[in-house]
Amino acid sequence: MQTNNPSEMDIRLLNENEEAPYALLLDADPSKEMVDRYLAKSEVFVAMANKEIIGVYVLCAVDKHCTEIKNIAVAEGFQGKGIGKRMLEDAFEKARQRGYKEIIIGTSTTSIGPLYLYQKAGFEVDHLLKNFFTDHYPQPLYENGIRCKHMIVLKKDL
Ligand code: ACO
Repeated sequence: MQTNNPSEMDIRLLNENEEAPYALLLDADPSKEMVDRYLAKSEVFVAMANKEIIGVYVLCAVDKHCTEIKNIAVAEGFQGKGIGKRMLEDAFEKARQRGYKEIIIGTSTTSIGPLYLYQKAGFEVDHLLKNFFTDHYPQPLYENGIRCKHMIVLKKDL
């Protein structure tokens, strides 16, 4: 990798014949089964630098008014440089272009970093899915030393 300067990054749709960037996707969502289930009905966008994928986000329609960012991840060496924020802004633009009026994103109550990022980008807490992670994931998940149990769903008007 020659650079980790996000100004040299661009974001594009993943081509149908390209392999999904699973290492990144599984960093945000550790269940391949869950990831594969939403990839099949989603658009996958990748952030590129020096022809390498350094970030990914996944847009999946909820209904004709609302879409959801199902997954967002930045490669470890590139985190904390504003790429996540730029990918969220790109997702808002892509969602507007597709005619959506609202966008949602869900994360564990334990995901303090992503919760900062999403609220800084204009998302507000909408509702809680109690026991989402204990009900839908076969293995117990831990983050920041806390068992992941509940999902916070945040929403933003576009
Ligand atoms: N703690 C505090 N603030 C944070 C954190 C953190 N861990 N992460 C991001 N932020 C804040 C930053 O302070 C920054 O605010 P600022 O612009 O005022 O300085 C803002 O959020 C933007 O940060 P970015 O640098 O754009 O975030 P980054 O490029 O690191 O991407 C992401 C954030 C996607 C969460 C990345 O850290 C990552 O890939 N983590 C691992 C995977 C993951 O947890 N994905 C989210 C799971 S939920 C889901 O996928 C729907």
